[in-house]
Amino acid sequence: MIRIFKTLRICHLTSQNSQTVRLLQITDTHLFADPYGCLLGVNTAASYKAVVAEIRSQNIEFDAIIATGDLSQDHTEQSYLRFVEGIADWSQPCYWLPGNHDYQPEMQKALTQSTLVRCDQVLVGEDWQLVMLDSQVKGVPHGRLSTEQLILLEQALAVNPSRHTLVLLHHHPLPAGSAWLDQHQLHNQNDFWALVEKYNNVKGVVCGHIHQDLDTQFKGCRVMAAPSTCIQFLPDSDDFALDSTNPGWREISLHQDGTITSKIGRLKGSDFQPDMNSSGY
Ligand SMILES: [Fe+2]
Ligand SMILES: [Fe+2]
Repeated sequence: MIRIFKTLRICHLTSQNSQTVRLLQITDTHLFADPYGCLLGVNTAASYKAVVAEIRSQNIEFDAIIATGDLSQDHTEQSYLRFVEGIADWSQPCYWLPGNHDYQPEMQKALTQSTLVRCDQVLVGEDWQLVMLDSQVKGVPHGRLSTEQLILLEQALAVNPSRHTLVLLHHHPLPAGSAWLDQHQLHNQNDFWALVEKYNNVKGVVCGHIHQDLDTQFKGCRVMAAPSTCIQFLPDSDDFALDSTNPGWREISLHQDGTITSKIGRLKGSDFQPDMNSSGY
């Protein structure tokens, strides 16, 4: 028996190409109210704009944007409005969820336009559903899924057993290989994976938070993370370290047969190099 804490808010996931749902992941923009605001030497508004411009210049086609948290660095409504402004020329919907750096009251206030839809929902399509989860624990960098969020996930998996499922959350639900970053992973990941294993319809999990490309298999699921649109963390480093790879994004295609294809895109050039001597974040 599934206990229902809240009614599922269901949105319909549409695709211009009925066979495949194409998602564009933009994550960890860390924007400020100040257009010159910098994070470890990178102007985050400028790098975000450059990423959007590069996606546009490549004519990348997608059905929806998924914004997987840490959209603001300073908790201001203006920083969220800056995010909205960046994607305003696109008519596709943007589904967003909060990260550890976000301040949900201001986030909610700013991101309520018709093309932006918040988390705590299940987006249902022909063959796929997206389950958007809130893993934020207020005031700390690590993540945790509340009982409500776990129930939301279980309901979706149980109610739509024939739909392939992509789960989205900010925090990484498995170690990424960097001790300093892995302290800040999803702390109750055993609860999460126990649910995934109980059903067999989760095909993929998408997160932000780790500011690097991750594409691996775990418990039969594809687990993916994307580069930040600003600073990157050095993979496999036990201590805090920045990476000189460029800001970027991830493209994800969900196919009718349950398979997923995905690739990372990045800016070219060297306009957004962080201060490599930074010792903390
Ligand atoms: Fe982040
Ligand atoms: Fe984060």
